[in-house]
Amino acid sequence: MEPLIELKEVCKSYDKLEVLKGISLKIYPGEVIAIIGTSGSGKSTLIRCINGLESIHSGQIMIHGCSILESAEQAREIRKKIGMVFQNFNLFSHYTVLENIIKPTIIANNVNKNKAREIGLSLLKKIKLEDKINSYPSSLSGGQKQRVAIARALAMNPEIILFDEPTSSLDPELAYEVLDIIKTLAQDGLSMVIVTHQIKFISKLAHRIVFIDKGRICEEGSPQEILNNTTNERLKRFLMRLDENT
Ligand SMILES: Nc1ncnc2c1ncn2[C@@H]1O[C@H](COP(=O)(O)OP(=O)(O)O)[C@@H](O)[C@H]1O
Ligand SMILES: [Mg+2]
Repeated sequence: MEPLIELKEVCKSYDKLEVLKGISLKIYPGEVIAIIGTSGSGKSTLIRCINGLESIHSGQIMIHGCSILESAEQAREIRKKIGMVFQNFNLFSHYTVLENIIKPTIIANNVNKNKAREIGLSLLKKIKLEDKINSYPSSLSGGQKQRVAIARALAMNPEIILFDEPTSSLDPELAYEVLDIIKTLAQDGLSMVIVTHQIKFISKLAHRIVFIDKGRICEEGSPQEILNNTTNERLKRFLMRLDENT
């Protein structure tokens, strides 16, 4: 099977700071990949490079076997298929919930308004927020905001969604609502890359866990291999500290 996304020796620096030091990773259709690692290890930068929010300095990022560096226009088209969910929701405060969900697809995918509304309503049902259709983000809880952000990503009909710590600004109870939606998406077979510290939750969903340390993939394997059988000292230390904090 051809990978959906393939990274080959991806390097990225900010001035003299080397953040990604040769990351190679294949993501196959239908896979759920969890990315873990200490703060500052390059997880967000990696996600942002995949989605084209940051440029890379060397290496390659291929989507469906096509290098995104070869044609800017092609890259833009391909990237419409990559959804993104951030830690801080990034909703538009002057749009209603429904508008937040459907405006991007109306603009980027040329979907007509009636069709977009239909998509929006079914997504509101999926995220269990039908009653908030005309509410503004300021009246929503953090968990509800993040569910809207997920629906907005889904409205674009993406092939994959990249999540950057989707629950880390939420209280445990609200985080649960969001994790529940992510679980449903995994059951639907959606490809996802999820940066998270919710290790117990993600180990039930992820096909693979990738541990990033100082800009390199330090360890990679099934949840079982990563959580129970690792002999990697740095990973063990990371997991122990995570355990103490949760
Ligand atoms: N836009 C930026 N400009 C300069 N340095 C940055 C920028 N974004 C991230 N960094 C630095 O890159 C390193 C990795 O950051 P990041 O990818 O956000 O790590 P993580 O998500 O794993 O916490 C950190 O040292 C951070 O300070
Ligand atoms: Mg980060």
